[in-house]
Amino acid sequence: MSKIREVANAGLGRDDVLAFWFGESDQPTPPFIRQAAADALLEGRTFYTHNLGTAQLRGALSRYLTGLHGVEIGLDRLAVTSAGVNALMLAAQAVLSPSDRTVVVGPIWPNVAEIPKILGSRVEIVPLEPAQGRWRLDVDRLLDALTPDTRALFLNSPNNPTGWMLDADDRAAILERCRRNGTWLICDDVYERLTFDRPSAPSFLPMATPDDRVIGTNSFSKAWRMTGWRLGWMVVPPSLLESLGVLVEYNTSCAPDFVQAGAVAALEQGEATIAAIRGELAAARDQVLAGLRAIPGIEAPTPDGGFYAFFRVAGCTDSVDLAKALIREAGLGLAPGAAFGPEGEGWLRWCFAARPEKNAAGLQRLARHLG
Ligand SMILES: Cc1ncc(COP(=O)(O)O)c(C=O)c1O
Repeated sequence: MSKIREVANAGLGRDDVLAFWFGESDQPTPPFIRQAAADALLEGRTFYTHNLGTAQLRGALSRYLTGLHGVEIGLDRLAVTSAGVNALMLAAQAVLSPSDRTVVVGPIWPNVAEIPKILGSRVEIVPLEPAQGRWRLDVDRLLDALTPDTRALFLNSPNNPTGWMLDADDRAAILERCRRNGTWLICDDVYERLTFDRPSAPSFLPMATPDDRVIGTNSFSKAWRMTGWRLGWMVVPPSLLESLGVLVEYNTSCAPDFVQAGAVAALEQGEATIAAIRGELAAARDQVLAGLRAIPGIEAPTPDGGFYAFFRVAGCTDSVDLAKALIREAGLGLAPGAAFGPEGEGWLRWCFAARPEKNAAGLQRLARHLG
């Protein structure tokens, strides 16, 4: 069971708890996106669609991704999915067989490591490390873990929970090793637009050829505030697309038509919104980091992307216990670090995609409790 859910279930429904445990904004989806979906719904767009998504949405995705990455991402590589988590499951189902070896960079959002396990894969975690106030990846350690029998590498950058972002200069060595070993590189890019000092995070898509074993999984949830819509996409090699359509058929068959209409508006009119969201997140990051660092015993490395602060509490050896005590005694809902793998034990995660007043009130509660 996800330990984020375990903790949240202990506090859900309590009005006195300020919750920062889930990875979503406290604001609803922007009105122009909701309007586009509402119009489509009223027009009667309530039928099944193509397994790979509507022609309008796939066309809009192709234009958006080609513009973002500066390389042509054609319709022969694009599939619409029922959000990012479904894209991860489809990617795993497409490439993994029982007992295959999978490498995951962690700490990591639990689903990324659990999905390969459900399919019988053996998962090894290569840990990120906090150093000089930031998170870093020991690339040599990752390359050593990418043995010839490694079937897939799951890489999430910017990373949930740490906010670590892959250095552009590290991409070539990782891609080269995956090519040499025939390893599938599955890039979970759901936070790629939530960066603080650049329009998007370094991506493998511009440097990989279409036929490389590289799969991008992505989502409308985070950058457009559409978590409840359950819509995402995948970029795959053309040779995989037909089988992927078959897998979609047996998973969800398709995403809802009116939901996809909302996503077309998000892609075509959403850049100003993303810019505004990024500005708000940068301010929230500064606010929450400053507040956390002012509390004695807290170590809070700076995230380079995403919307989480992942911080260590001195003396904490059971983060689930601490998270439950914070709910009970302080009215504060945070995710326990242990949810993100053993490397996360002793840490807590705060989703700072919240209004400044809410972040401030939460910081006060934490300071009072730990004090
Ligand atoms: C790293 C990562 N990948 C994928 C997802 C999937 O999000 P969704 O299924 O809402 O698209 C999340 C959500 O928190 C995430 O943190």
